[in-house]
Amino acid sequence: MIDAIYDFLGRLGYSHPVHAVLTHVPVGLAIGAFCLAAAALVTKERKFLRSAYHVAVMAFASSFFVALAGIMDWRRFYGGAWLLEIEVKMVLAGLFVVLLLLTLLLGRLQESRPAVMFVFYGLCALNVLGLGFFGGQLVYRGFAPEAPERFRSGRNVFESHCSGCHRRGENIIEPTLPLRSAPQLKNFGDFLAFVRNPRLPDGSIGPMPRFSADRLSDEACRQLYDYLYFAFVTQKRSEGL
Ligand code: HEC
Repeated sequence: MIDAIYDFLGRLGYSHPVHAVLTHVPVGLAIGAFCLAAAALVTKERKFLRSAYHVAVMAFASSFFVALAGIMDWRRFYGGAWLLEIEVKMVLAGLFVVLLLLTLLLGRLQESRPAVMFVFYGLCALNVLGLGFFGGQLVYRGFAPEAPERFRSGRNVFESHCSGCHRRGENIIEPTLPLRSAPQLKNFGDFLAFVRNPRLPDGSIGPMPRFSADRLSDEACRQLYDYLYFAFVTQKRSEGL
């Protein structure tokens, strides 16, 4: 049944996870409800609490579809494996539904205090941020291989400037030119020259952006290089594994 849905979507040309697309609905609504509760607190206008309530009802209703899509994606794309992030997301999702239900019940009371509602909507909003964070961890974890503390700055540069295209040392645009086996990693001089003025092997300009000294200082490039060298050149899988 689940596979039939994905196969159908695939025939329409859509082969990605579904949860990621739908999840913005309850996330946006929960944060919207929190903003309205904050407005009620600041302006002392109760009408904002009513709006927050209605928005939260929509968040509650939509969360079931999104959770279902999450479970479907998990089974389809992760083979139903119990990864830590999945476990945390399941707990947070359950907590979100309970918390939101409680918030809605409180919100129905005429005398509910704006400060109390603000706290409850705040907890719901924090919860969706947590769900988003662990969703991000699930997708992005491993884009930048772990490394000892001394490579932290270089790893940060890699994560923020390169790992989108070169996740795990690959190349998502030109798969035959992966970073992990790049000849430019042999020495820092070649690496720096390449990063400042990237070229395809035939010398023509390719899709990789140039990183001028204003964007990445020589110092940052050095740290980046040390990290890449550690992560992709020295950290080869040992023989026999
Ligand atoms: C927008 C995607 C993109 C980003 C961001 C990017 N690259 Fe690239 N990279 C490419 C592409 C595409 C190539 C192929 C050569 C070209 O386009 O000039 C490449 C090639 C390379 C190569 C040579 C690979 C080989 O096997 O010949 C190195 C080294 C490299 N990139 C390092 C980096 C570093 C370091 C960063 C971050 C500072 C970075 N790239 C950011 C897309 C990207």
